[in-house]
Amino acid sequence: MVTLDSILLFVLFFLPYIVTSRDVTNLYGLCLSNESDNQPHNNIIHTVWSKNYKSILESSIHNARFNNSNVPKPYYIIVPQNKEQVRGAMICCKKIGFESRIRSGGHDYEGLSFISYKPYCLIDLSSLRKIDIDVEEKTAWVEAGATIGELYYNIGNKSRTLGFPAGTCPSVGVGGHISGGGQGPLMRKHGLAADNVLDATIINVNGTIFDRRGMGEDLFWAIRGGGAASFGVVLSWKLQLVEVPPVVTLFTVARTQEEGATKLVKKWQKLVMEFPKELFLRININPKKDSLGRPSILASFNSLYLGKKSHLRRLMRKKFPELKLKSKDCEEMSWINSTIRIDSYRKDSRIEDLLERNKEKKLTFYKTKSDYVTKPLSEKALQGLWDVFKSTGDGLLILTPHGGKMSEILDDAIPFPHRKGVLYNLQYFALWHHLNLTVEKIKFDWVNGVYDYMGKFVSSPRTAYLNTRDLELGRTLIGNEKYSQAQSWGEMYFKRNFEKLARVKYSVDPTNYFRNEQSIPPLAP
Ligand SMILES: Cc1cc2nc3c(=O)[nH]c(=O)nc-3n(C[C@H](O)[C@H](O)[C@H](O)COP(=O)(O)OP(=O)(O)OC[C@H]3O[C@@H](n4cnc5c(N)ncnc54)[C@H](O)[C@@H]3O)c2cc1C
Ligand SMILES: *[C@@H]1O[C@H](CO)[C@@H](O)[C@H](O)[C@H]1NC(C)=O
Ligand SMILES: *[C@@H]1O[C@H](CO)[C@@H](O)[C@H](O)[C@H]1NC(C)=O
Ligand SMILES: *[C@@H]1O[C@H](CO)[C@@H](O)[C@H](O)[C@H]1NC(C)=O
Ligand SMILES: *[C@@H]1O[C@H](CO)[C@@H](O)[C@H](O)[C@H]1NC(C)=O
Ligand SMILES: *[C@@H]1O[C@H](CO)[C@@H](O)[C@H](O)[C@H]1NC(C)=O
Ligand SMILES: *[C@@H]1O[C@H](CO)[C@@H](O)[C@H](O)[C@H]1NC(C)=O
Repeated sequence: MVTLDSILLFVLFFLPYIVTSRDVTNLYGLCLSNESDNQPHNNIIHTVWSKNYKSILESSIHNARFNNSNVPKPYYIIVPQNKEQVRGAMICCKKIGFESRIRSGGHDYEGLSFISYKPYCLIDLSSLRKIDIDVEEKTAWVEAGATIGELYYNIGNKSRTLGFPAGTCPSVGVGGHISGGGQGPLMRKHGLAADNVLDATIINVNGTIFDRRGMGEDLFWAIRGGGAASFGVVLSWKLQLVEVPPVVTLFTVARTQEEGATKLVKKWQKLVMEFPKELFLRININPKKDSLGRPSILASFNSLYLGKKSHLRRLMRKKFPELKLKSKDCEEMSWINSTIRIDSYRKDSRIEDLLERNKEKKLTFYKTKSDYVTKPLSEKALQGLWDVFKSTGDGLLILTPHGGKMSEILDDAIPFPHRKGVLYNLQYFALWHHLNLTVEKIKFDWVNGVYDYMGKFVSSPRTAYLNTRDLELGRTLIGNEKYSQAQSWGEMYFKRNFEKLARVKYSVDPTNYFRNEQSIPPLAP
């Protein structure tokens, strides 16, 4: 019987021929057609000359910034159908001296899951997406290539009163999302996605597959928030599901600067720590012209409340009467329905929309950055922020509240360190809609201007959220190897956990095979 390993070794053997010849498709055709006689392994390896190369590559590119011919492309794209093939792909790419970039949902804000400046394979896990829900045990095993939308859908399909705390965008992959933290509407009640992982399976640099017991507690710690890309290939997660009430309530209330948005945001900052864990109330800030056509802002207060509308209204009347929440602003629904609504804001969205892996509403280019705010901004500081912010026609700020469970979990429980003392996470988005380097430069300058302005108002030392990957943090070197250089961004993402991550890295991947522009460097004891 022909195994994948032998197929890949066969390919490997012919590599000098492959890389110097345009006849590669024939070679693959020969190799793979033989194999398909025996088992369904055909069509898992693609090169630029293969028919599906472009469509597979683009299938989970979400940021148009990385969707053009100037961006480096993988020599091979491998789409494994099972874990043995993932293993074979990784081992083979390593043997030929290629990097392996691992892609689950492809949402990395800097495209690190599918772009490298060295020769590389893209191992795309989108076919590994089995989800097993155990309602009795309240757990789920989820393969890395599944999306959080698919996870939510499968939970909702089995139970109306179970949920999982993860992000709002359904097409985000569990591979990257959970290994980088995973914040969303249930975090004040239940913490991050990474806080709710019970077990995992991973392939290490030697191709051995381990579960939690086999990998040991240090590696299990590292991959829950430290970014798995530095440590191996996560195949699956075992998750602790959480209980959700049968009825939850959503609202979105938007106020312009003229309608008192600044005072509302100021007050919100004070309330964040006081609100019960059941209330998640985030703010999206968009630019908007005022009634006289001058640039202004619109603050949208967007909420999920784990309970009924009547309770929510009582709570808001008591704590936040200034928002003037009305009954008609609130809508009761099941938790599963809320997962799609909080993303789309559309009444006509359907639960099945959770399964759309690559439905992009519009072609968007974006650059994001993040901060953690630990002291409320004054009204004057907020006014100043609006002033630098509204100079662009298209940008977005998202203020995601912490508090609740987030403040209770210790800073070093997992690598994600932004816990007690954090009021909210701040995410800056520059958005644009055409490939135009002049526009791109203007947008980068703009978002950096907003970020610079905020420097004196945010946590000190300044920090950032790994899942809002930002290659401009500190000085980023391609394939960074030096601990001292990586400290600049590493300590922003992980604070004091960075050193432990680097030691774990040394113990599992001392030669630094699993690396990218912001991977953890190995630190010898
Ligand atoms: C539109 C959009 C909305 C978002 N919304 C939220 C949100 O609500 N909350 C939030 O916390 N974050 C959010 N994010 C950020 C998101 O959580 C991160 O980008 C996350 O890393 C994406 O995971 P992925 O699998 O889709 O990405 P990928 O690009 O596939 O991977 C991201 C990183 O993880 C590595 N990786 C992926 N899979 C594996 C694996 N199986 N084993 C080892 N390494 C792996 C990749 O190599 C890469 O370094 C959003 C991002 C976007 C673009
Ligand atoms: C594939 O099949 C062809 C034709 O049967 C044969 O010539 C070739 O040696 C086979 N290659 C492998 C790797 O088995
Ligand atoms: C990527 O580019 C292709 C055209 O090459 C286009 O069809 C696709 O919509 C683009 N996707 C994104 C997310 O920009
Ligand atoms: C569960 O999913 C199956 C298959 O997609 C579907 O037929 C069924 O209606 C769903 N059930 C619920 C309760 O959502
Ligand atoms: C959930 O959404 C579906 C449409 O996808 C709708 O038919 C159903 O009534 C909603 N249920 C609840 C409880 O919100
Ligand atoms: C790019 O954008 C700039 C600024 O908006 C504009 O002047 C220029 O014409 C654009 N270039 C192209 C090629 O569209
Ligand atoms: C990988 O294999 C090498 C060589 O056999 C061995 O020295 C090393 O300890 C292994 N590493 C891990 C992390 O298992």
